[in-house]
This record gives sequence, C-alpha cells and structure tokens, in this order.
Amino acid sequence: MTQDELKAAVGAAAVAYVRPGSVLGVGTGSTVNAFIDALAAAGVPLAGAVSSSEASTQRLRRHGYSVVEPGTVESLGVYVDGADEIDGAGHMIKGGGAALTREKIVADLAQQFVCIADISKQVDVLGRFPLPVEIIPMAVAQLQRRFARFGGQAELRPQVLTDNGLPILDVRGLRITDPPALEAEINQWPGVVTVGIFARHRAQVCLLGTPQGVQTLRY
Ligand code: 5RP
Repeated sequence: MTQDELKAAVGAAAVAYVRPGSVLGVGTGSTVNAFIDALAAAGVPLAGAVSSSEASTQRLRRHGYSVVEPGTVESLGVYVDGADEIDGAGHMIKGGGAALTREKIVADLAQQFVCIADISKQVDVLGRFPLPVEIIPMAVAQLQRRFARFGGQAELRPQVLTDNGLPILDVRGLRITDPPALEAEINQWPGVVTVGIFARHRAQVCLLGTPQGVQTLRY
C-alpha cells in the first residue's frame, strides 16, 4: 500500500470516533484532509467544527460543515489530528504543516485526542523528525544558541509563516527521551510561542495505518 492509501485508511477509520451532531476538533495536514473527506462522504452531521488552520477550515466549509471559533465552546469530546512522529506513550512531534500553535489550542479543549498516522510516523524515541517551534522573530538567534546548548541545530523554515504570521524554527539532532520534561523546558524560553512536542497534550488513541490494516493503539 502507498502512504496515501494508509492515510486514507486511517482517515476513514477515525470517522467512527465522531459523535454525529457534536462539535468536533479538527487538525491539519494531508491525513486530516483524508479524514475530512471521509467524514463528508459518510454523511456524518456536525453541530460545528473547531479548526486548527485556514486550510482545514476551507476544506470543512467546502464540504458544507460550519466552522466555529474555539472561544464558543468550553470543551470538545474529540480532536482528530495527524502527527509527524508518535512514540509508544502517545507523545508526538507535530508542526510539520506549521499549524502547531492552533493545534495545541484546539487539542487543549478536547477530552480525547485521536491521532491518525501511517506507520512511518511510529518511533521509539522522538527527534528524528526536525522539531518545529513557532517563535517571535526577535528571538531567533537567541533561541538558536539555546538549542545548540541542547545539541540541536535550529534553522528558520524558509518562506513559511504560520497562520499567526510567525516564523518556525526546525530543530535537528535532538533525541527526545523525556518529552514532557523537554516540552516544559522549551516552553519557558522567552520568544517561544509553541513547541511542537505534544506530551502534555498527547494522544489517547492512535489509529495507525499499516499494510496489514489499521491498528488501534491506546495510551
Ligand atoms: C501540521 C501537523 C500535521 O498533523 C503533521 O505535519 C502530519 O501531517 P501529514 O498528515 O500531512 O503527514 O502537525 O502542523
């Protein structure tokens, strides 16, 4: 199976986690695109969706779903999103699609994070995928030096600004053996808006696309 077929399979499998008529949290990326398409194809009605990016908002609206502001809901039952890496405890690296800040905001509202990922995203230790960090521009050099002290090489992602109009550093060379601790550490650094470690907001369920079928992993 191709990676796109695996993404389509987990996108379709995630539809079962959506309560018809509920307000749903929706992530960002190609796997989420497959999920949105599958949700619409299955005709699942929603009271609304809280979206983590302009791209997902447009796709949801094209399918006729209404998108509501996060401030209008106190909590969400389910948030469905992809990941760049996921470890054996449901900790993730996210932000390959530059939507990490809004993704963390929407995930924070949700009681259950359902991660949809093909098997290439499953790792023992996070860090092979460069860690995205959304930052305030004046802190670039300072943060690059800080990451260097942690053994990471931080480079600005070229020609990319987030939906919040901010740049992203991609940090290579980290071996993230304690994701909650590193997330808490980086969150303290002035100039960091959001670090793409999702440990505090880890997945409770991962629908993992494998050539043998979709596996359900619970953490
Ligand atoms: C966007 C993300 C995505 O969930 C992550 O990059 C995975 O994307 P894809 O489903 O396209 O592989 O975190 O910021």
